[in-house]
Amino acid sequence: MRSQVIIIGGGPSGLLLSQLLNRAGIATVVLERQSRDHVLGRIRAGVLEHGTAQLLRQAGVGARMDAEGHPHDGCYLAHDQQMVRVDFTESCGRQVMVYGQTEVTRDLYDAQDAMGATHIHGVRDVVLHDLLTDAPFVTYEKDGRQHRIDGDFIAGCDGFHGVSRASIPAESRREYEKIYPFGWLGVLSRTPPLMEELVYANHPRGFALASMRNDTLSRYYIQVPLSHRVEDWSDDAFWTELRARLPDSVAGRLVTGPSIEKSIAPLRSFVSEPMRWGRLFLCGDAAHIVPPTGAKGLNLAASDVGYLFEGLVAHYGGDGEALEHYSDRALRRVWKAMRFSWSVTTMMHRFPDHGPYEQRMQQAELDLLASSAAARQAFAENYTGLAF
Ligand code: APR
Ligand code: PHB
Repeated sequence: MRSQVIIIGGGPSGLLLSQLLNRAGIATVVLERQSRDHVLGRIRAGVLEHGTAQLLRQAGVGARMDAEGHPHDGCYLAHDQQMVRVDFTESCGRQVMVYGQTEVTRDLYDAQDAMGATHIHGVRDVVLHDLLTDAPFVTYEKDGRQHRIDGDFIAGCDGFHGVSRASIPAESRREYEKIYPFGWLGVLSRTPPLMEELVYANHPRGFALASMRNDTLSRYYIQVPLSHRVEDWSDDAFWTELRARLPDSVAGRLVTGPSIEKSIAPLRSFVSEPMRWGRLFLCGDAAHIVPPTGAKGLNLAASDVGYLFEGLVAHYGGDGEALEHYSDRALRRVWKAMRFSWSVTTMMHRFPDHGPYEQRMQQAELDLLASSAAARQAFAENYTGLAF
């Protein structure tokens, strides 16, 4: 089998890249380890930057997002009893779109089906070959048989645990990592959201976030020690703890109900450089992980895909240099989103080694946001997404 671009991984990065390339007349094949139902069963974040929403429209998958998604003009940052609202529209003229990653993935699969794109699920033992030549190829096993696909390029969209990043020799990679000493316990519930906008809360008992998917589906998180197990958290215990961490002025509004999904995710910042190795290009979680506090994971995947798509279209249009700058361009944006995610994480969480000094720093940062339009503008620009 032969294709122009072989895409490893059928998560949001791989699907969006495939969709954009197919519409531009560039042939792709997507190799995914899991079944489609498994991919669609993952509950992930739900805030789309302005540029991500634009790219989805460009890919022809914006219709349901525009009909069912919720544009948000701002969010709240709470500190104990104080609530600071950052008005995105007033501060930087942009909004974000609240629309779940699961829905984005579903829309991409539907659009890919409609155009007859090639997706192969249930692949095993994917190996990338001859990446430093003009004729890379991929081998894999499916249903007990070995297969080979030849291509011009390989896009490594296979997430943090994928095979693509590991195909770059260790001595040619530089990794940067920060592990945070806590995780997020998340609950999805069929209940109306706490507020119309997201509330990020810094409380002496720990961080909490009140988010949503739509008018009847809410997503909540609380910071927990890494030693905690999800089985130890009953729904009641979760709601009690969440309520305790929200300002009194809004805690009374919380509507509780049975959890539909409950899980604990550790927080990590990670970048692997470069994002290109010969004919292999990494996109999304394969190259970097951000803590979820800034809502940047999916959005960084989208900007990587946007850069790679542009580069590939220019390459096939005859520009031999077009792909040379992919890694540098993508990494410049990645590091700025890393900085934002790290700074919001640091401002909003309780760290086991933080003392009174660090708490005062957090207070001062939140006070600055409350009192300075310039500080709110910087937050809003980063949250709604830097240009790409
Ligand atoms: N072969 C084939 N597929 C693989 C392999 C492999 N060796 N390893 C992993 N995969 C698949 C996974 O099953 C998964 O479906 O690659 C896909 C990667 O998807 P994600 O982990 O979702 O990563 P990405 O598409 O970059 O999405 C960006 O943004 O909100 C964040 O982490 C969140 O998933 C989100 C990410
Ligand atoms: C979510 O709704 O899952 C969500 C929203 C904002 C974040 C992280 C997660 O920063």
